[in-house]
Amino acid sequence: QNIYVGVDVGGTTIKVGICNADGDLLQTYEGPTETSKGTDTILHNIAQYARDIVTESPYEWEQVAGVGVGVAGFLDIPNGIVKFAPNLKIQNVNLKSYLEDKLQVKVLVNNDANVAALGEAWAGAGKGIDNCVCYTLGTGVGGGVIINGKIVEGFAGMAGELGHIAIVPDLEAIQCGCGKMGCLETVSSATGIIKMAKDAVARGDRTTLVSVENIMAKDVIDAAKEGDEVAARIVSRAAYYLGRSMALLSVVLNPECFIIGGGVSKAGEFLFAQIREVYEKYTQNEAKENVKIVAATLGNDAGVVGAAGLILRA
Ligand code: BGC
Ligand code: NA
Ligand code: ZN
Repeated sequence: QNIYVGVDVGGTTIKVGICNADGDLLQTYEGPTETSKGTDTILHNIAQYARDIVTESPYEWEQVAGVGVGVAGFLDIPNGIVKFAPNLKIQNVNLKSYLEDKLQVKVLVNNDANVAALGEAWAGAGKGIDNCVCYTLGTGVGGGVIINGKIVEGFAGMAGELGHIAIVPDLEAIQCGCGKMGCLETVSSATGIIKMAKDAVARGDRTTLVSVENIMAKDVIDAAKEGDEVAARIVSRAAYYLGRSMALLSVVLNPECFIIGGGVSKAGEFLFAQIREVYEKYTQNEAKENVKIVAATLGNDAGVVGAAGLILRA
């Protein structure tokens, strides 16, 4: 058994990949999640795509050491139960036993961002680094904490839910998808950036952002880069709270690097420079010594590679 299958279950797409023991991605495949069709279809698709990728590859099922799965939501990790996944609309599903039954191999389930962090630590921006914290800035803000080369899961699987660090002060806080107020995700995710832009336009702020109906986070970032002050303020706010959260994590965990991935991180140096500035300002001097803030390098593949890595590392 020398190949490892990784599955990354997102709200719109399920990505699957086959890795070797070095974390090299040998084969990839992706298909629609079909979230709107409900839990049964989603589960069926996960099993189907995992099976298909092996069938259509030069490898045999007998070579598969196991299937690792990353899911965007709150999980009971040891039991492989998805407790609540807001963007997938699935709740209390035992994904591990479902897949083990269908695929007849060992299955390990973990959080999507934990798995992306493991991928980056194994074969990406964190290669060779044992202590790092990874953020994924997408629909939500995901987080993964790697300490001594291992994912930190916590008492009930909720460690590394960095998007739900309550960091925005009450007077400015809005409600998060998780139900609480002032989560990092409300300001630093693509969804948060879009919401702030729509609110600014609705308030009548002077901005070049006009048709906000189908606006994307990238449009706001591009406008900010071109000097639009309203857009610039929104992006700075996203960067500010990310930097503040990193300052906080530095004195809790003292990681060697922070790795930032997800669609919003494509804003590049424009965003990173602002995060670093806030981080410099607020982080205790010894806790930030030689600490790097870098972009993820595996891009969209981090989840699949890390999910495969779950099996190899087990
Ligand atoms: C969820 C996390 C997930 C993240 C990125 C958040 O809203 O709470 O579990 O990792 O989105 O998908
Ligand atoms: Na996480
Ligand atoms: Zn929240």
